[in-house]
Amino acid sequence: MSQSLHLSLNRTPNASFKGEGKKHGFLSSLNGKPNHMKFPLQDKPKATMSVSPHAAPTEIPTHWYNIIADLPIKPPPQLHPKTLEPLQPQDLSHLFPDELIKQETSNERLIVIPDEVVDIYRLWRPTPLIRAKRLEKLLDTPARIYYKYEGVSPAGSHKPNTAVPQVWFNAQQGVKNIVTETGAGQWGCSLAFASSLFGVNCEVWQVRASYDQKPYRKLMMQTWGAKVHPSPSNITESGRRILNMDPSSPGSLGIAISEAVEIAANNEDTKYCLGSVLNHVLLHQTVIGEECIKQMEALGETPDVIIGCTGGGSNFAGLCFPFIREKLKGKINPLIRAVEPTACPSLTRGVYAYDYGDTAQLTPLMKMHTLGHDFIPDPIHSGGLRYHGMAPLISHIYELGMMEAIAIPQIECFQGAIQFARSEGLIPAPEPTHAIAAAIREALHCKESGESKVILTAMCGHGHFDLPAYEKYLQGAMVDLSFSEDKMQASLANIPHMS
Ligand SMILES: Cc1ncc(COP(=O)(O)O)c(C=O)c1O
Repeated sequence: MSQSLHLSLNRTPNASFKGEGKKHGFLSSLNGKPNHMKFPLQDKPKATMSVSPHAAPTEIPTHWYNIIADLPIKPPPQLHPKTLEPLQPQDLSHLFPDELIKQETSNERLIVIPDEVVDIYRLWRPTPLIRAKRLEKLLDTPARIYYKYEGVSPAGSHKPNTAVPQVWFNAQQGVKNIVTETGAGQWGCSLAFASSLFGVNCEVWQVRASYDQKPYRKLMMQTWGAKVHPSPSNITESGRRILNMDPSSPGSLGIAISEAVEIAANNEDTKYCLGSVLNHVLLHQTVIGEECIKQMEALGETPDVIIGCTGGGSNFAGLCFPFIREKLKGKINPLIRAVEPTACPSLTRGVYAYDYGDTAQLTPLMKMHTLGHDFIPDPIHSGGLRYHGMAPLISHIYELGMMEAIAIPQIECFQGAIQFARSEGLIPAPEPTHAIAAAIREALHCKESGESKVILTAMCGHGHFDLPAYEKYLQGAMVDLSFSEDKMQASLANIPHMS
């Protein structure tokens, strides 16, 4: 992978900012149709491994679903940062093993999940789909709210769904060392866990803000045998450059990615893993939606609205992409809604443009919704949502008008999380509090309108190691963080100027 490179091409005028909740582009009319299309009711829910009276068990999927095969317009290619030509598979071989590169660029609709991976998935999959009856009662809403709960994995979130195959494909190719970044610590824990299963060494750069807020996540990673550094660190050139400018930098995912990519690029025996954003990561997460479709069918339910939080977009894609496939077939017609923090709103305020995935400009150029690669979001408690860009695939689907997006401030998210914890019992990670707050908004609209919509959301992780955030909220010390237009414009001025 090439080192830092400054492009001096002409700048395309940026796309206009997108308002909250705006639908646009072709296919948007699908979102407006009445929901008359339903999943057929199955004979009876199978009652083999029920976790709650409202959870429907199912089998573990045998394939990952690649939505690219079904898109009416293919997403724009990633570009080589030096030549600006479409990226070739060999350009990625410093960073990823061959199988993951194939998946990254594949147009195949279905990709077989190796038996060894399915065998490990069995530790926590299928995950439960639960009807939030007590939350519905608390809100006094006619809506029916369902959540797919991924917190049952060993690391406590959806991230092991991709960590396990990523490490497995690396191990198959004989890779002994892998490096990564982590925001909240959930991804770092997942990769540390997966690495421990396959005897691979794992080194993690954890965003400074989360490293300080979440000491137990660091300890979990170390328990699974990983080495953990706060980012920015003095170990890499990218980290030192940031520390020289701001010795107390809270870090960002963009900086931590630069550090890990730099180490992988400079060490032959080391590969890099990413916990979100890339096509193959979103692909692995589709086990969530595939299971959920069967679970909803077994309950005789059809979602009217599907809601997920978006950092880089992997849990959202994992839940929604298989449902979008069914929507494209005309079988169902749910609204698909992404929720991001107001402090880092790449979809709702960012521009759709080619940009780097990291601060030091080491990654390929990806066409995505971005706040600019050197945008450093304020240190909100949802560390996993502090990423300047959105997955290119989600950005593309958003541009096609196949989904919508909103942004919610963190206090409203934690209000929702407290309601959820006190009715449903589970304490959400800070990231899915965004999805829960949006589901509550929707359920309260239903209360006003009298509609009994089916709301499906992704509860993508538990918050057992995020309790300092809850402490802040409970003490009344949490504040809503947003940023000035000037800060964003300053950052956007630095994205590559493409003709
Ligand atoms: C629990 C949890 N949810 C969501 C996210 C956001 O990532 P993504 O948008 O890729 O799902 C993270 C990221 O670290 C996370 O830890």
